[in-house]
Amino acid sequence: MAGRSWGYWTRGKLDVLRAYLDAFTTATKNRTSERIYLDLFAGEVENHERLTDEHIDGSARVALNIEDPPFSKLRFFELESNAAKLEAELRGEFPGRDIIVNGGDCNERIHDALTALRPYSWAPTFAFVDPNGMQAAWSTLAALADFRRTKSTKVEMFILFAAPMFIRVLPVDGSQIRSRDADKLDLLFGSAEWRQIYEARLSGVIEAAEAREQYLNFMRWRLESVLGYEWTHPLEICNTNGSAIYYMIFATDHEAGTRIMSSIYANAAAEFPAMRERARRRRQRAREEDHGLQSLFSDVAALEGPVQRGERFYEHFAPEKPWFLE
Ligand SMILES: C[S@@+](CC[C@H](N)C(=O)[O-])C[C@H]1O[C@@H](n2cnc3c(N)ncnc32)[C@H](O)[C@@H]1O
Repeated sequence: MAGRSWGYWTRGKLDVLRAYLDAFTTATKNRTSERIYLDLFAGEVENHERLTDEHIDGSARVALNIEDPPFSKLRFFELESNAAKLEAELRGEFPGRDIIVNGGDCNERIHDALTALRPYSWAPTFAFVDPNGMQAAWSTLAALADFRRTKSTKVEMFILFAAPMFIRVLPVDGSQIRSRDADKLDLLFGSAEWRQIYEARLSGVIEAAEAREQYLNFMRWRLESVLGYEWTHPLEICNTNGSAIYYMIFATDHEAGTRIMSSIYANAAAEFPAMRERARRRRQRAREEDHGLQSLFSDVAALEGPVQRGERFYEHFAPEKPWFLE
């Protein structure tokens, strides 16, 4: 079988990407002839869903298939061992398109690629940052944010953030954290302050689920306060058992971007029972906190039930300043 096999949540992630890219190019249709797409962990052209064996277009094909209008310049990044095959397949399937596949570590290759694109830094630019785990460095996100720093809006980013994986690599049984995992987290956050969250978890002040939320909040806080993004939107992606596997974080300065992605997130969450149930629990918790009420949702069927008319499954909340930065 060609390509990799993915869990069903991958289709959800790529559906969100497709819907947003479509809206992104449409919004720029009458303003410019150039629009740039950057795919930092590009993967393969085609993949398969693990359970159903249905084919899933990889992000490269999703971006290249966006029409009316299409992206004018597309830059992909893949490990050296996969890059030549990806480039040959993309060139075969999309002749005449302005495509470059950069082989090697995207955290290194991004800088030269952005320098080469500098004459086009006025063009609307979208970056998909989709690692398998903890490979995306903060310095890469900073370089993306700097690319259009002098313009009114920065590069929009859609980033996979693997906070549930941190919980697995950060031991709480008394054993030492491996230094290579700690180094990776320093690079990923661009700061060693994540250790404050880990310390709180180690001393039992917070549970694993709260630690996960705090890592996410810290990352969003840094995207907004350090890189200067106006809005960040997290979408929690769960597996069929309802366990969180990662978050997708969307970062933008565009009012239209924030509105459109909120609506796409709400539709995505409505389609996945586990995500629906979590959104309902979250909403219920917020209501209880606001009104000091006991749970009205003791009825499990109500939490798990079908989508109600007008019911929304995503609301934006700004990140909070982490307690250790107060
Ligand atoms: C989750 S997959 C990407 C899936 C793809 N974006 C899609 O949606 O179809 C992550 C990919 O990143 C590649 N990769 C891992 N580390 C990398 C790095 N440092 N630089 C560039 N690519 C990397 C892996 O080979 C893998 O194909």
